[in-house]
Amino acid sequence: MSNKPERSLGDYQLPRLWGPVSDRSPEAWRTQRAPQIVEAFAANVYGRTPSGGGVEAIVEKSRVDDALDATAVRRELTITVSGPRGSRDISMLLFHPSNISAPAPVLLGLNFQGNHSTTSDEGVALSRAWVKAPAPRGNQARRWPYDQAIARGYAVATIHHASLEEDRPGAAATGVRGLFHTAAQMERDRQPDHWGAIGAWAWGLARALDAIGSLPELDARRVIVHGHSRLGKTALWAAAQDQRFAAAISNDSGCAGASLFRHQAGENIDMITQNFPHWFCEAFNRFQHAEASLPIDQHQLLAAIAPRPVHIASADLDAHADPRGEFLSTVHASPVVELFGGRGTVATEGAIDVPAAEATAVEMPPIGVRAGHQLSYHIRAGGHDVLAEDWKHFMDFADQNLPDVS
Ligand code: GCU
Repeated sequence: MSNKPERSLGDYQLPRLWGPVSDRSPEAWRTQRAPQIVEAFAANVYGRTPSGGGVEAIVEKSRVDDALDATAVRRELTITVSGPRGSRDISMLLFHPSNISAPAPVLLGLNFQGNHSTTSDEGVALSRAWVKAPAPRGNQARRWPYDQAIARGYAVATIHHASLEEDRPGAAATGVRGLFHTAAQMERDRQPDHWGAIGAWAWGLARALDAIGSLPELDARRVIVHGHSRLGKTALWAAAQDQRFAAAISNDSGCAGASLFRHQAGENIDMITQNFPHWFCEAFNRFQHAEASLPIDQHQLLAAIAPRPVHIASADLDAHADPRGEFLSTVHASPVVELFGGRGTVATEGAIDVPAAEATAVEMPPIGVRAGHQLSYHIRAGGHDVLAEDWKHFMDFADQNLPDVS
């Protein structure tokens, strides 16, 4: 599957990486072009994140010093996040190595079904937040191999996405967005670029980063934001907006995540906006059946995170997320990585944009092999999931690329 040629070579035209910016220096990328791209994503896809808001308080609810066979400290922290209209409490579950000589780098990601679903540890409080389906303790544990991360010196922090905002249409006023606007305001001022749930969750990740900054055992300069599927879309959007994230990882994030909209396979804008209208801003609906008129495409989201490292993961049976489209994003973002002296998934030798016909001829790496460096990619055998095998690649990527802060 992975190495089949495209249906027709070069049949998509991508927006130019540099757009109208003529100074093509690393500095110009960082200060002019990346902010333009983030702005275009805010205006057309995810909506604008309001400024203001922050963390009001952090309270430790539980702490166990001999978790995971006495290799880790397990803590639950209640973080009070606030906006102009109020505050809400969210719970962060944290594991960090017990014997640390220096603050630990952190893998930070949202979870789908509650912190208790990520571990069979009976001490972790059951989440009372909304869930789509019943979520017994530990039922997502295979997606969260905490012991593996601890063994490699990483801390792992997670928050239930629905504790920030419920994952359903009509929940804006009762979640993070309700900290900024009333339901009546949202209705009255209906703006095409009003932020969606992905924006609200990404805001929550930034608040989690604020909280990490107050914990001396953790290194806030080495936080890798990661996520699976809708939460992988969220991780990329969080990293693009907030320069403090040291690196980003998206797993099977697909449409409106790592995959190119213009590579027409798997989910498209019509499907995603019909099924998940609450994730995006209203302006995004204009592009149903009109991918070619979007002013951006997802390679630019990856490139907007540069020079910070990015890793993209796919699964070969996950056709809905379009693995080939996810890989092609990395190919088309590679020139920007090279601009900063790094290496992406393909060598572009100074090409400003990789032509589609050339990109479509690039073979994907074999199953299980991570290709690239500062921008890297791997594809795993199997379906839509995130497994220990994926985490191994995440940590290889992080080991190789995290800034040396010693
Ligand atoms: C649906 C949706 C995807 C999303 C996925 C998930 O399949 O169509 O866009 O990534 O849910 O979050 O698991």
